[in-house]
Amino acid sequence: MHELSSRRSVATVGTYFHYLCTSMHDDSALLAALEDDMTAESAALFADLAVGYLASTRDGTGPVSTSLTSADLAKRFDEPMPRAGRPLAEVARRLRDDVIADCNRLYHPRAAGHQVSPPLPAAIWSEMVIAAINQSVAVAEMSPTGTVLEHRVIRWMCDLVGFGSSAGGTLTSGGTEATLAALLAARFVAIPDVWSNGVGNAPPVVVCGEHTHYAVSRAVGELGIGTRNIVVVPSRRFRMDIEALASALGALEREGRRVMAVIATAGSTATGSFDDLEAIGAICEARGLWLHVDAAHGASALLSDTHRGRLRGLEHARSIAWDPHKMMLVPLSAGVVLVREECDLENAFTQRAPYLFHGGAGARVWDQGTRSLQCSRRADVIKLWVALQRYGADGIGALYDRLCATAMFMHDTLVAHPSFVVLHEPECNILCFRYVGDGSLSDVELDAINRDLREAYNRSGAGWITSTEIGGRRVLRVTIMNPRTTAADVRAIVDGLACLPVQPNSCNH
Ligand SMILES: Cc1ncc(COP(=O)(O)O)c(C=O)c1O
Repeated sequence: MHELSSRRSVATVGTYFHYLCTSMHDDSALLAALEDDMTAESAALFADLAVGYLASTRDGTGPVSTSLTSADLAKRFDEPMPRAGRPLAEVARRLRDDVIADCNRLYHPRAAGHQVSPPLPAAIWSEMVIAAINQSVAVAEMSPTGTVLEHRVIRWMCDLVGFGSSAGGTLTSGGTEATLAALLAARFVAIPDVWSNGVGNAPPVVVCGEHTHYAVSRAVGELGIGTRNIVVVPSRRFRMDIEALASALGALEREGRRVMAVIATAGSTATGSFDDLEAIGAICEARGLWLHVDAAHGASALLSDTHRGRLRGLEHARSIAWDPHKMMLVPLSAGVVLVREECDLENAFTQRAPYLFHGGAGARVWDQGTRSLQCSRRADVIKLWVALQRYGADGIGALYDRLCATAMFMHDTLVAHPSFVVLHEPECNILCFRYVGDGSLSDVELDAINRDLREAYNRSGAGWITSTEIGGRRVLRVTIMNPRTTAADVRAIVDGLACLPVQPNSCNH
């Protein structure tokens, strides 16, 4: 056996030697290309693309988004996989002309669409470094400094929440993964033998508010709990109705049904509303229930002196989803899951991988892979750490305040405009409103007009907004993510919407 394997290894070495000799010419060209592409000049090609993109989007002169459809764009890329490489400058040109030219311009001052940031510049530049060093934060030995930085930043965030020394967390791809990880941890507490035996015939119940993000129902489905075991609590003014929550929990108790978790939202997707975490936290604590707070959007208010109070009671949570790629304005992806007890996250996952994890008994386990859904994982914490180093927590908090103030200005502008009604006062940077024209049209007609209005406005390139349904009616929605959006831009968005020809009697107010 030994002889056989050593004969095979001699043959293998011979094969490789032959390969290296015969393909030396082709390989050397390729290796030279790798060397060339590592130079500052090559890097500058891509840095220039990013700088050029930022410059063209910042001045607000071009369209916010493309007018081309996905089908139109697909034709541009309809080609076979390239067999041979091309010069880097040619690839960069194609990236500029075919990709960047028709992407959304998030730094455009009238981009007010989804909860995606025009990213903080220092964090953008860190992306190149993160990719260059390519450290995987699954295990400390693969990412010596990245792992330590992740622990450092998570600890800062836990301190802001008010969690004690046994808290922990990891970075995630976003709020959806953070919520799944958190509910996995809650599931282990509710069903300690779940890993080997599954959820059984009487899975526990998950209680959440009516405006909860779909990440929750998706996680419940993924966890095998079954979405029919979700109990939805109605809202009052877009926040979870506390009395309805108490009575739902009372009813579940009387029915003898176990509750795996209660889920509150801090910064709901539709309206940016914050649930009353003090009241919900007190109810959960009194009943010994796991409280998960989906603060993917709103947790960054912890950095703001003005808005921090909206999160009062957050420390009652057993787990929290917090997306720095939303209101900390870090580029995608940068999500975070925090848990009051780090061991809850460790219990959520089980792995035996002697090729990877070597945690010594009793010693601190630095490997974040033991607490994460992912194995290989980018050191995204670096861009978050860079953003904090460059702009400071206070600076990012001040930007949070600015975005909320701009949304409030938009609210006031819309209130003063005869053609619109607002659905709520903004609690952060999200605002829903509806075009109502001169008041003569039916709700159904207005639903169609509001839908067409958004599409026509976005297609015009003048600005970019989103829409949603509130109370069964189609409404317009903005998320002010851009600190460069001014009062004049807000007025331009409102006037632009009011003046589009999709509605009858446009612009005769
Ligand atoms: C409240 C809330 N939770 C969760 C998510 C999902 O986050 P992600 O897209 O980062 O997975 C969002 C995204 O908009 C959100 O608004």
